[in-house]
Order: sequence, then C-alpha cells, then structure tokens
Amino acid sequence: MHTTTEPSILYFGTPVVLITTRNEDGTTNVAPMSSSWFLGWGCMIGLNSGSQTTLNLLRERECVLNLPSVEQAYAPNRLARLTGRYPLTADKVAMGYRYEKDKLGAAGLTDMRSDVVKPPRIVECPIQLEAVVQATHRFGGFEPERAYNTGTSDDPLVLAVELKILRVHAEESLLVPGKKNHIDPDKWKPLLMSFAQYYGLAPDRIVPSRLAEIPEEMYRPYEDMSKRPIA
Ligand SMILES: Cc1cc2nc3c(=O)[nH]c(=O)nc-3n(C[C@H](O)[C@H](O)[C@H](O)COP(=O)(O)O)c2cc1C
Repeated sequence: MHTTTEPSILYFGTPVVLITTRNEDGTTNVAPMSSSWFLGWGCMIGLNSGSQTTLNLLRERECVLNLPSVEQAYAPNRLARLTGRYPLTADKVAMGYRYEKDKLGAAGLTDMRSDVVKPPRIVECPIQLEAVVQATHRFGGFEPERAYNTGTSDDPLVLAVELKILRVHAEESLLVPGKKNHIDPDKWKPLLMSFAQYYGLAPDRIVPSRLAEIPEEMYRPYEDMSKRPIA
C-alpha cells in the first residue's frame, strides 16, 4: 500500500564527490557534494551559489571530481558543515557551518598535481576526474521560494553546472585485468549518500544485467580518444 508523503529532501542515493577547486589566492578548496549524474564524458552537478566551490568554479572554470570509495567515508564527514567561504551565508550560519581555510588539512586529505587543470587531485580517492565548465543553468526556479533569488550571499540559488571531463584517473587495482579502459564494477565500491546518511553498495550483483550485454565500447563518446577536445 502506498501513501503520499512530503519529505523535505529527495536524496534517494547518489555517489559522494569531493570536488576540488582553486581559491582566488591559489590555495585549494575541497567540498563534499552528491547531486551529480554522468552521461558520456559529461557530468551535471548541482551547487548552492553560497558555496566557495561555486564562486571558484564560476571564476576559474575548472575542477576535479574526486570519488571516494566506502573506505574514505571519514572525509566527507570531517568536511560536513565546513565552508571555505567567509563571511558565511545566512543559511549556512543557521545550519551551524563554520569557516575553515584549510579544508584538505581538516579532512586529513593529501593533494597531488592534476595533468590538465589547475585544481589538484586528492591522493586518497581511487577515482579522479579532471573537468572544465561547459555551461551553467539556473536550477529550481519552479520552487516559488527560490524563483526570484538573486544569488547574493543572503539569497542563494541553486546552479546546475555542466562539466566536461577531460581526464580520468583510476587506481590500477580497479581495472579489469588486461583491459586498461574498463573499470571493474565488481571492484569499485562507491560511497553513496542517501537522505544525508552514508552507504555502500550491496556486496553482490542483484541479477544478471541485460544492459551490460551491450559492449561498453559502444558508449565511447569519441571513437578516437586522442582526437577528443582537451580543454
Ligand atoms: C555528503 C554531502 C553531500 C553534499 N552534497 C551537496 C550538493 O550536492 N550540492 C551542494 O551545493 N552542497 C552539498 N553539500 C553541502 C556542501 O558541502 C556545503 O555547501 C559546503 O559549504 C561547500 O563547501 P564550500 O562552501 O567550501 O564550497 C553536501 C555536503 C555533504 C557532507
């Protein structure tokens, strides 16, 4: 039997991402987020305009999406309710956030150089995606409370930021042996957030997948990867 319900949030379970961006002074900001989905080598992320990450991304147009596995659940938890933005926006003050300049240090994370973008990758994350901003869209305008927000610090709005992935780094142990371009879904253990709690995937495949009968190569967005745009 179903019943109607009006949850405050509709976060049914998506991967956690630790997004690194460059602050104006050249230092690194890192923030946990989980409103993201991928299509081809594109990714759409949902960000509050009151975050330092959003300011950095709109200014520098570059980021790294670092994907923690279940082993790194400590990291988003340590970063929760910290912001690299000062002064804080009113909604963050109300939610008990505090300013932290050294977010990497606070989370116990290590940075390493990226190949094609300025923000660094996070060593501890088994998958790291270097990306640039393709487009930004205002999101959530259908909600009357947000429709007329201006995006100022006391009036934040939500932006959908479309990213183009330029380079993918994966821990070698996650690859199918002998197949350099295939990440083994049996080995990749993403950290998921569902209704603000952390989960992993069930240990085993549920049913044999008919979708997986399509060769993965058929989805490759560029037939010749060496000809793909690099910026
Ligand atoms: C697990 C987790 C997931 C989150 N997902 C999002 C998200 O998808 N979008 C968003 O704007 N904020 C999200 N947040 C909140 C941001 O981390 C928060 O706005 C933070 O202030 C961003 O840091 P910054 O201000 O230094 O950029 C999430 C927080 C946690 C802990």
